[in-house]
Amino acid sequence: MIPVLIGADDLHGRIAELAADIRSDAGPGTLVHFVCVLKGAFVFLADLLRVVEGPVSCDFLGVASYGAGTMSSGQVKLTKDLDHPLKGRYVVVVEDILDTGHTLMYLQEILAAREPAALRTVCLLSKPSRRQIDVPVDYIGFEIADRFVVGYGLDYDEAYRNLPYIGVIDEEG
Ligand code: IMP
Ligand code: MG
Repeated sequence: MIPVLIGADDLHGRIAELAADIRSDAGPGTLVHFVCVLKGAFVFLADLLRVVEGPVSCDFLGVASYGAGTMSSGQVKLTKDLDHPLKGRYVVVVEDILDTGHTLMYLQEILAAREPAALRTVCLLSKPSRRQIDVPVDYIGFEIADRFVVGYGLDYDEAYRNLPYIGVIDEEG
């Protein structure tokens, strides 16, 4: 079994808090348009969406960093664009994990250019010690140490996305 870093109950408890914060900042009647970053964030989005009160919608985009394995190269490309425009919408980008910051910086730049009314970001996980770019994030689920994590949508070479918890696959600590 893959060792547990964050269990399912802790994930769901924290996600309920994030949902409440997002709704509280958006205001009660605002349509919150979630932009899910594929593939890693799809499980997080599915759970988050179901505990946000009031009107929501969602769309999906795909990004890839060049290179495989556990190292992020800093080169990001869009592999799938959104289906709908963002202009005038209250947008919340949903990302699985913030590592160096390159992916999110790239996304915030291209999405801001589409003129949303608001552009917020929620990340389930963050590894502060790995940061290379100081990218602004409005909501963070959990700060974690520099470990390679999988599960709950996150993969290692496409495996382990189905784990119901966040696990660690490196040999540290
Ligand atoms: P960044 O561009 O370096 O911030 O990398 C962010 C992306 O790298 C995330 O969206 C993940 O796809 C991937 N990533 C970074 N750390 C991990 C990890 O520990 N497990 C799985 N994917 C990771
Ligand atoms: Mg990702």
